[in-house]
Amino acid sequence: MSGDLTIKLNKTASSRLPGVELKNIPFGKVFTDHMLVADYIDGKWQNVEITSYQPLTFDPSLAAIHYGQSIFEGIKAYVNANGEAVIFRPLDNFARFNQSAVRMQMPEVPEEIFMDGMKQLITIDKNWIPTMENHSLYIRPFMFATDTFIGVRPSATYKFMIILSPTGPYYGKPMRIAVEETYTRAAPGGVGQAKNAGNYGGSLKPAEDARLNGYDQVLWTDAFEHKWLQEVGTMNVFFVFKNAVVTPSLEEGTILDGVTRRSAIVVLREMGLNVEERRISIDELIDAYKKGDLIEAFGTGTAATISLIKELGYKGEHLVFNPENNQVSKELNERLTAIRLGEVADNHGWIVRL
Ligand code: COI
Repeated sequence: MSGDLTIKLNKTASSRLPGVELKNIPFGKVFTDHMLVADYIDGKWQNVEITSYQPLTFDPSLAAIHYGQSIFEGIKAYVNANGEAVIFRPLDNFARFNQSAVRMQMPEVPEEIFMDGMKQLITIDKNWIPTMENHSLYIRPFMFATDTFIGVRPSATYKFMIILSPTGPYYGKPMRIAVEETYTRAAPGGVGQAKNAGNYGGSLKPAEDARLNGYDQVLWTDAFEHKWLQEVGTMNVFFVFKNAVVTPSLEEGTILDGVTRRSAIVVLREMGLNVEERRISIDELIDAYKKGDLIEAFGTGTAATISLIKELGYKGEHLVFNPENNQVSKELNERLTAIRLGEVADNHGWIVRL
């Protein structure tokens, strides 16, 4: 690794791990002993350091807080059947992170920092990777603007960080989803394809309204007609019809190019299914449901993994799915899990070792 990108190590004297119960650990609440930090100053990345997990201090005029130049990724590490720590498709997240950076007018992060830093950090904290079924180590790389300035312009300085969080299932039970009729997550030309913090901030009010009506999340629709389906709050979405599995296409730039979505498309095709990436409307779903042609619906995401949808609600219509009728998502989940845990060959080069 070249000169100032060398990763400085500043390890903690003692681990907090003995005091942590990893089984059934909730998503996103517990963090490992260490974190990675790097600064972008004077047009270059520097001060790359793995240090003890600790609070940050910052000036109240920090640019990220005011104008939202803030992006992130979600990746998972597992312990495989041979006891080795492995990461699932981190290079895909690395590429997407830098695409988000470009869209948000932020500097790209070099592979030496993102990938080598992540591997070193996980190596140091690898005892934190839970080994129980449906558990993993959630990896959260993120970058935010650090200029102390409240004029609207791109920041000249940034911080890139990686934190690690052992986790159990994100949703844990089949979900009731409200198809969004009022609010919009993304429109063509916007930032829907970028994994920037504001996309999630803007989703909270619609999600809370849906929750008050008995739903777990919303399924976003297009900005103009509120009928073309996009993605669910924290995951991409798939619909299993009698003759095809359909997932909304990426070409309008309004949904995330999910790494689990990509993996699901490949594995579903290996299962012999006809997968279509295309525009799909709620009207088509309702029609197919009424004819008995729509069998299953599920979401895919790093945090969500494969999450069953048991109901879709839209303008008084309720599409109810029997969670037992989940042959496709069940087999997909089993196949993806077997790849992650090294129980079958990784024919796609998705697994990265430390
Ligand atoms: C992920 O699946 O990694 C996500 O980023 C979703 C999340 C906001 C929990």
